[in-house]
Amino acid sequence: TLQTNRPPLTIRLCGPRGFCAGVDRAIQIVVLALKRYGAPVYVRHEIVHNRYVVEGLEAKGAIFVEELNEIPAEHRQQPVVFSAHGVPKSVPEDAASRNLFYLDATCPLVSKVHKQAMRHQRLGRHVILIGHAGHPEVIGTMGQLPEGTVSLVETVEDAEAYQPVDPDNLGFVTQTTLSVDDTAGVIAKLNERFPNLTAPSADSICYATTNRQEAVKAAAPGCDLFIVVGAPNSSNSKRLVEVALRAGATRSLLVQRAAEIDWAEIGEIGTLGISAGASAPEVIVDEIIEAFRERFDAKVELAITAEENEHFLVNRELRDVELTRE
Ligand code: F3S
Repeated sequence: TLQTNRPPLTIRLCGPRGFCAGVDRAIQIVVLALKRYGAPVYVRHEIVHNRYVVEGLEAKGAIFVEELNEIPAEHRQQPVVFSAHGVPKSVPEDAASRNLFYLDATCPLVSKVHKQAMRHQRLGRHVILIGHAGHPEVIGTMGQLPEGTVSLVETVEDAEAYQPVDPDNLGFVTQTTLSVDDTAGVIAKLNERFPNLTAPSADSICYATTNRQEAVKAAAPGCDLFIVVGAPNSSNSKRLVEVALRAGATRSLLVQRAAEIDWAEIGEIGTLGISAGASAPEVIVDEIIEAFRERFDAKVELAITAEENEHFLVNRELRDVELTRE
């Protein structure tokens, strides 16, 4: 054939990868809201951290804003959707005071973390949130409780330095998309210093984060390169890059689209691992595999470590809108 000069390449395609149930639900909420209420539908913050998804929804009539005051008065009757990452309590309050109609697309697993944080506080515990400063999920979780009642711990060093007012009355929760291994280290340090620290009643790191990291860990050893499909502001995608490197991949890259791959930089590789963050659509995984097929004689091996069948219902207001998947 034409293509006999392409070098051989084994692609290890991880599963589970890509969309989680929370991302799938958030996108459906915007799509269904557009159907039910017509355009425009406002979305506060990127619904999920992926440009391709955001642009696809914009093309359908969604308008993305960072704050509610960006919604013009003449569109007050149109819904505004809150992103999957969750929002501080002040946001729905603000929406109500502006007479806005909102649909909350916060992932149910993030809401669960919010409830655990509130529970700690109700039982008199000061809350420690393990997570990354500035991430919208962290802002949302901290914003469930009054200012000053949640302390953010990012690293083992932070856990080492943290000085609580009452070391015997502490409870922790975490961001849902952290590195399972790094978080275990931070929690171990906190437990060592504060033996009465109370864990949440269920793990905060979600099933999707855990499963994607496990799959990458299993596939990464022996990979000359590991590509994670995802956005630079996607926490769970960035963690997959770290996991791949730590598990033995020689190199690892976060890639948003095939077009951004620098082929000179890829060089000679024999084994390529591929996974995708929870906000990365499968079409982009396909696009990247195709791009490698054009340049390599590639065979794809599936590297599946778990089956997922989680599914989250959309908001009550939208349940009877006919759902068409594209
Ligand atoms: Fe929810 Fe986890 Fe996805 S918290 S949005 S299921 S990454």
